[in-house]
Amino acid sequence: MKFQAPKGVSEYFPPKSSWFEHVIWKLEESALAANYRLIETPIFEDTELFARGVGETTDVVTKEMYTFEDRGGRSITLRPEGTAGVIRSIIENGLDRGQLPVKVFYTGPFFRAERPQAGRYRQFFQFGIEAVGVDDPALDAEVISVAHLAFQKLGLADYQIQINSLGDKETRNQHREALLSFLKKCNLDVETMQRAEKNPLRIFDDKRQEIQSKIKSAPLLSQFLSQSSLEKFKEVKKHLEQLQIPYTVNDRLVRGLDYYTGTTFEFVHNRLGAQSTICGGGRYDGLMETLGGQALPGIGFGLGIDRTLLALESEGVELIDRQYVDIYIIPISPTSRNLALELAVNCRRGGFVADVSFGDRGLKGSMKAADKMATHFVLVVGDDEISSGAGRLKRMSDGEEFSVSLASLVEKLRDFTSR
Ligand code: HAM
Repeated sequence: MKFQAPKGVSEYFPPKSSWFEHVIWKLEESALAANYRLIETPIFEDTELFARGVGETTDVVTKEMYTFEDRGGRSITLRPEGTAGVIRSIIENGLDRGQLPVKVFYTGPFFRAERPQAGRYRQFFQFGIEAVGVDDPALDAEVISVAHLAFQKLGLADYQIQINSLGDKETRNQHREALLSFLKKCNLDVETMQRAEKNPLRIFDDKRQEIQSKIKSAPLLSQFLSQSSLEKFKEVKKHLEQLQIPYTVNDRLVRGLDYYTGTTFEFVHNRLGAQSTICGGGRYDGLMETLGGQALPGIGFGLGIDRTLLALESEGVELIDRQYVDIYIIPISPTSRNLALELAVNCRRGGFVADVSFGDRGLKGSMKAADKMATHFVLVVGDDEISSGAGRLKRMSDGEEFSVSLASLVEKLRDFTSR
């Protein structure tokens, strides 16, 4: 029997895994530079957390969750997104009783039982940040700037930032009534109408063409924004302009999860086809209260790492294979294998990347391997080196050889690399 990975999962192996690692590092670096700290939450949580947090009317909760009963009869779900778990953890661990805003970031796998296609997977990777506890338009702009800066550092250029405001409770209530009475006249099927009654905004991300054409002239949230929502949105836009972050306002942008309020945004890449949103996020001012915590506001984003890699590829950005080997040690006699490994371990202790030619590859085969591996130095050890305690270090860039005493190999590498 031949095993295959489950349908629709993304996986990364060498050399592409170096790119994956590089992208994560750049994202984390951008979050750390803005004083966000790592949070690591479990990959599975109580199903109820997502049902309540993400919303009973969303596609994610109704169709896409990987839910199972654990051995204790509890309903468990593999996390489809990160925000609900982060807020649960902040409440449970009392982080919201300390300095505000709580600023955290996370990276890891997420799970949605979607129909797989390019850029849409059942297990995918997200990097996300959340800033909880402060309602300040400058923070909204900061969150957007963290993603923008990270994308720029990665060399990504061909994307747009779309923003919208979903307003506050007052805005939403007024808009809800207007939208529902509009939808009642649209001749929608019973199921769609029932869903709309729970959360009419969901109609905007209904993917069916016939629904979208029926709601072309539906009332938009932007027409109902309260004075304070309008002012906050204006402030956010002003901050973005000052930071020279280009954006467009898309007043049909509602996002697919129920917890959003106020500022929402998406980074849309221009060369990715159907699955083009590389990052999405916004404010979720009622979520903490919904999950049993204080009534504190929050804002954050989730950034698709898989899609970011596809976007980089589509722009032809050359991603570097970060893996290199400082020294590759080749034993050419059975007795020198032990010495080769010992020297490699010493080099590793000294902070160098060292590898050994294992098995019976012979000198020629081993040199070929060294060439393929981006190796800086090669050292061949045999019986002569054991008896003399010295060897010849070959620099691969120009082929030059240097005599070294094996006891001071690490020092020699330090001299050469100034590390
Ligand atoms: P989301 O829009 O559902 O938001 O997901 C964020 C990003 O994850 C998407 O823009 C996309 O790049 C990536 N993504 C989502 N689903 C898939 C999939 N099936 N395959 C590949 N990539 C995917 C959230 O998850 C929110 N928690 C974001 C957030 C954080 N809002 C506030 N804080």
